[in-house]
Amino acid sequence: MRNPLRAAIRPNFQHPAMKSYHLTTFGCQMNEHDSERMKGMLESLGYREVAARDEADLILFNTCSIRESADNRFVAHLGEAKRLKGEDPARIVGVGGCWSQSMKERVFERFPFVDVAFGPGQIPKLAEFLTSDSLTAQGYFEFEGFSGHLPMKRAREFQGWVQISVGCNCNCAYCIVPSTRGREASRPPGELMIEIEGLAADGVREVTLLGQNVNSYGRDLPPEEKTTFAHLLAMVDAVEGIDRIRYTSPHPKDMREDVVRAHAELDALCEHIHLPLQSGSTPILKAMRRTYDRERYLDRVALIREHVPDCALTTDIIVGFPGESEEDFRLTLDVCEQVGYDGAFTFVFSPRRGTEAALITEGLVPHEVKIERMQRLVEVVQRRAHERAQRFVGRTLEVLVEGTSRTDPSRLRGRTRHNKAVNFTGLGQPGELVMVEIDRASSQTLSGSESLLARAGAA
Ligand code: SAH
Ligand code: SF4
Ligand code: F3S
Repeated sequence: MRNPLRAAIRPNFQHPAMKSYHLTTFGCQMNEHDSERMKGMLESLGYREVAARDEADLILFNTCSIRESADNRFVAHLGEAKRLKGEDPARIVGVGGCWSQSMKERVFERFPFVDVAFGPGQIPKLAEFLTSDSLTAQGYFEFEGFSGHLPMKRAREFQGWVQISVGCNCNCAYCIVPSTRGREASRPPGELMIEIEGLAADGVREVTLLGQNVNSYGRDLPPEEKTTFAHLLAMVDAVEGIDRIRYTSPHPKDMREDVVRAHAELDALCEHIHLPLQSGSTPILKAMRRTYDRERYLDRVALIREHVPDCALTTDIIVGFPGESEEDFRLTLDVCEQVGYDGAFTFVFSPRRGTEAALITEGLVPHEVKIERMQRLVEVVQRRAHERAQRFVGRTLEVLVEGTSRTDPSRLRGRTRHNKAVNFTGLGQPGELVMVEIDRASSQTLSGSESLLARAGAA
């Protein structure tokens, strides 16, 4: 159905000879990866990327809506696009991603200067729009298939993301993602293996498997393609040239022993698991509809520590969910003390449109209480992460070199298998695996120097 509000005419639009684009990405790795697909697709259409928004014929945003702050950040950027479009009406403004999907046609009501809006499942439609003679603004918001067939422009040639599933079948009461990315659908293992073998042949050494709930992977596949996540990990491990496998995120409810064991058994699977906690209090987990309780979560941690004692653990935590009492919050702090995470992403609860938690009117946690709890949480998380990181001091760890250090250009930067960032002195080139002797550790980063002995020994 055509919405008259969408009929924002683009006057005299013509395809210029060499068109340029500028893309700003917000949100999670899923969006980063979708942006790589968008870039690959645009470049195959003859567009070239420019660094400044005001030089672009096509201004694109890949948006996130996970928290209110994400919306606000994006809307501020959109103001600049409006101004640039005002200066040159032939410019095209496109808005993709989760915010766009959650707003649908309302994108054009709120921002009539937007030419094309599309959800995360509709990236190929952007090409259709750009190559059509359409003069009216268009919105594409169906959930269909994968963008896996699109070319991709990777940020680093030696690291690749692989989307193993789209969507999410969970009902976490606070979360907007099921409504922006649709029902969970796994990609067939055969298709994934072709993609991963292609990446390896292209020089990728580290792959990160992406999904909202990776360890429910494969359950929706037809019987002849049924594959568990643990089995998929084993297949990826067998690919020649893939030295490191990561994945994000597993859900504690679906974390089984086969996946934990895989960390001990598969050479390429890294010693790091991101296991989102959200809350350490069973009643709050119940209200969040997380479908596991505090005991089940701690039991998963014990299982991981039993099979992979050195495994790094990171997590996501929300403070100030409606109904969270001081006692509930202390239970969250207590899990952080007990587990000793290597790192945590901590968020203040933010009510999202269309979610169950946004309708709760009782037991709302006052803003100042949320802030005070957040400070206490960050203190515990950082102190424990600092303590945990000391186990690396004095060890020689394998580091994948990513580039030069952000703070000191004479040093290098890379990541350990535990996903710790390391700044170090050495001779390694980006994409190389080197051995680094760790001499210092803070809650966030390690510091050291490349072991030339180990390097010579390896040669
Ligand atoms: N699928 C992933 C997480 C996706 S969102 C998983 O389940 O692990 C990343 C994180 O954002 C979540 O783990 C949660 O901690 C946080 N988050 C999601 N919705 C939120 C909200 N409404 N307010 C605050 N934090 C939120
Ligand atoms: Fe959101 Fe929960 Fe699904 Fe993660 S598992 S994407 S938090 S609904
Ligand atoms: Fe990711 Fe944000 Fe969407 S976190 S899944 S881009 S809402």
